[in-house]
Amino acid sequence: MHLTLPFWRSGGIWSPLGGIFEGVATTLLGVGTALITGASSGLGEEYCWQLASARHNVVLVARSEGKLKNLAHRIEQSMGVRAEVIVADLATQEGRDRVIARLKQDEHPIGLLINNAGFGQGIPFRENSIENELEGLNVMVRAVMELTHAAVRVMFDRGQGAVLNVSSVASDTGMGTYSAHKAWVKAFSEGVAEELKGTGITVTAVMPGMVQTGFHEKTGIGPRDVPSISWVTPETVVSESLAAVRRGQVLVTPSIRYKVTSFATKHAPRWMVRAVTSRIPHM
Ligand SMILES: NC(=O)c1ccc[n+]([C@@H]2O[C@H](COP(=O)([O-])OP(=O)(O)OC[C@H]3O[C@@H](n4cnc5c(N)ncnc54)[C@H](OP(=O)(O)O)[C@@H]3O)[C@@H](O)[C@H]2O)c1
Repeated sequence: MHLTLPFWRSGGIWSPLGGIFEGVATTLLGVGTALITGASSGLGEEYCWQLASARHNVVLVARSEGKLKNLAHRIEQSMGVRAEVIVADLATQEGRDRVIARLKQDEHPIGLLINNAGFGQGIPFRENSIENELEGLNVMVRAVMELTHAAVRVMFDRGQGAVLNVSSVASDTGMGTYSAHKAWVKAFSEGVAEELKGTGITVTAVMPGMVQTGFHEKTGIGPRDVPSISWVTPETVVSESLAAVRRGQVLVTPSIRYKVTSFATKHAPRWMVRAVTSRIPHM
């Protein structure tokens, strides 16, 4: 028996049945390949594990070759799926082109693209160098645009596919260029999702709140700078966003806590949002 649902809608480890039923369901549905940027740590690494657990092949993209190869080896050994590595700096055209070439490849076609790579500047705009700002723009906006463009074109010809773009709850705030990039990701995803309605291709944007990854440490924010109630786990963000991809949902904010925060941010006066978010350490 072979079911024809696209693989990323197969349920996999997110099946409420759990245990043995998950394995049976995913085996029946076959194996597809997902490409994940920013796979060397944090949310990207968790996306790789959850997809591999659900019997999907994965393509890992980031700059840290050692970390990627180690992760790919562990995934192949423990999950029995293919794990490819592409070492690429998405801030450069050469790096983006390497990933685009893989997206266009017919062998082991990419059914799910996850644009996850990103970083905070951790410094006010005026004090930052324009080179650092442009690096952020290239990784969090330009790469998302170029990779999505290449992916949806080949997916359109195949009649199916999905793109998941990692935005942030910061997209509803005015926290510098980071917020601006994430607001672009959200608006871009909504627009392309609407354009592709009825084609078999879905586009989803996920807006995580504060997630326990290495992200904040890299921007100089320590655990003490953030109340413990603010944290959500990578497992929650990844499982809720993959469930949204499976449903073909366009926007998802994981966890009740951040759904409420997001509602409040959208409905509060903008001066109040700016006053509150200006007290949060700089992204
Ligand atoms: N953590 C949070 O609270 C939070 C909240 C909302 C949204 N997000 C978003 O979630 C995404 C993942 O962040 P995370 O929390 O998992 O942080 P993380 O652990 O620091 O991971 C960031 C990933 O991006 C990759 N990356 C950074 N610059 C890159 C470049 N130039 N080229 C290729 N890859 C690059 C890093 O790999 P290499 O260094 O090996 O290249 C790493 O794998 C980001 O888009 C972030 O903005 C995070």
